[in-house]
Amino acid sequence: MKLITATTYEEMCQKAARVLAAQITLKPQSVLGLATGSTPIGIYQELVREYQEGKLNFSQVTTVNLDEYLGLSPENNQSYRYFMNQHLFNKVNIPKENTHVPNGQPQNPQEECRQYEELLAAVGPVDIQLLGIGNNGHIGFNEPCGHFPEFTHVVNLSESTIQANSRFFAHSSQVPRQAVSMGIGTIMKAKKILLVASGQGKAQIVYDMMFGPVTPQVPASLLRFHPDVTVFADQEAGALALAALSK
Ligand code: GLP
Repeated sequence: MKLITATTYEEMCQKAARVLAAQITLKPQSVLGLATGSTPIGIYQELVREYQEGKLNFSQVTTVNLDEYLGLSPENNQSYRYFMNQHLFNKVNIPKENTHVPNGQPQNPQEECRQYEELLAAVGPVDIQLLGIGNNGHIGFNEPCGHFPEFTHVVNLSESTIQANSRFFAHSSQVPRQAVSMGIGTIMKAKKILLVASGQGKAQIVYDMMFGPVTPQVPASLLRFHPDVTVFADQEAGALALAALSK
């Protein structure tokens, strides 16, 4: 696991976006695994800017997103499908049919999970998977629990995630209690993983992920067993990990 720090959030996003831009340029038919949350927004802005400047072409790119809230329609402005359309898909020339986000309103959630795994197997392997990290170490919506979930599954969101994500909703009671998420095993199949973290609030969990025990209580810690993970952190989020590395 490699750590790349940046002075500011903007610089961190530029660095991570460059890796994605290089991937798309070298392999126009790339499969990108994408993430939501506030941290990747600056990366999507960079990619949109490069597209507008004529430097990037998304016409053959395929994307698969990590997760979706259960109960929210694609038109709901809190859904992850809506987020991706707003921040990236509507702003670049990617064909909508090449963009995949789990269905938040499936008739049968278990069946949706199975079908999403099938889809991933059909379009994959993912060339680069982008990840954020939750305050409790979750990636996608893989919450701390007794095991590392292997496949796409239905998740009961933890109280801490509901509270953390309530900043995007009018009230915490409106935060869905369940989601569909790729499993940790699904995420680990990507050829290359970029994890982005920003702000002081992420410093401890970035340290725990990199130096603490590998445990399902810190789901992101399993990434240490992946051969190609780069953590991009701004100065605040990377502070504790950087101090440990320079000891
Ligand atoms: C949500 C998403 C995660 C994301 C996390 C952190 O829970 N499911 O994929 O990493 O939020 O979000 P932020 O980047 O806003 O801290």
